[in-house]
Amino acid sequence: MQETNGLSQKQIEEALRPTTLWRRVVYLPTTGSTNNVAKGLAAQGAPEGTVVVADEQTAGRGRMGRRWLAPPATCLLCSILFRPDLPPTQAQRLTMLCSLAAADAVEEIAELQVWLKWPNDLVVKAQSPKPKAQNWRKLAGVLTETGMMGERLEFAVVGIGVNVNVPPETLPTLAPNATSILAEVGRPVERVTLLATFLSRVERRYEALRAGDSPHQDWAARLATLGQPVQATTSEGVLTGVAESVDEDGALLLHTQDGTLHRLVAGDVTLSS
Ligand code: BTN
Repeated sequence: MQETNGLSQKQIEEALRPTTLWRRVVYLPTTGSTNNVAKGLAAQGAPEGTVVVADEQTAGRGRMGRRWLAPPATCLLCSILFRPDLPPTQAQRLTMLCSLAAADAVEEIAELQVWLKWPNDLVVKAQSPKPKAQNWRKLAGVLTETGMMGERLEFAVVGIGVNVNVPPETLPTLAPNATSILAEVGRPVERVTLLATFLSRVERRYEALRAGDSPHQDWAARLATLGQPVQATTSEGVLTGVAESVDEDGALLLHTQDGTLHRLVAGDVTLSS
């Protein structure tokens, strides 16, 4: 079924299997940022598993202070509130499990193979990249924000933006290298079905985390950049080397030519040619 309109609270509630985790869904036709709404609800004591979904964001945020642009009613824009029993250094595990859940959901619903790009992107690989061009296109991004109570992690909000039914001609207005499911597979997919599948995968992986399993190995196995020569842009400058591995807390271990192993916790990575 082709989707032309916005979502609705009723449609989302009907599509979601009521579970112990997904107890509250807040649908907003338009809002500033679903992450901001979820953080506001967290401050008011909202329970873990609260999900905020919007059709449009007027102030969508990406990592490193960037804007996140999404044409209305074409993307999956959603934020999940967690109250995990984790040390703050392990909050990145929530990003890992949500990224994996989103990749699984896109693969299931759209039959499109999805990779992850350190630290927080979902990408598809280009079939025949032009020489020196990046061989991936960005389908989605994840923004995780935490709230602390003293030394303790009080909550984490994981926000995800997936370019679902964005027409190919609109993609250049979003970001360089942006793609959408529609552009990749040539047909639209129902956002509510993608949302329901994503949330059911998140729940399964979150239960595993609570039982003591780290998503680290699955996440590392899906990272497109490992073992490759890369250029990493960090707050301390640009580093060129080989993306050797990622550690349990999600940091990238980058081996530069002088033999130094750098541990990067934030930044952007591109393949260097
Ligand atoms: C990135 O790639 O830089 C992360 C992008 C995260 C965007 C999502 S859209 C839903 C949620 N609300 C926001 O304001 N940002 C995240």
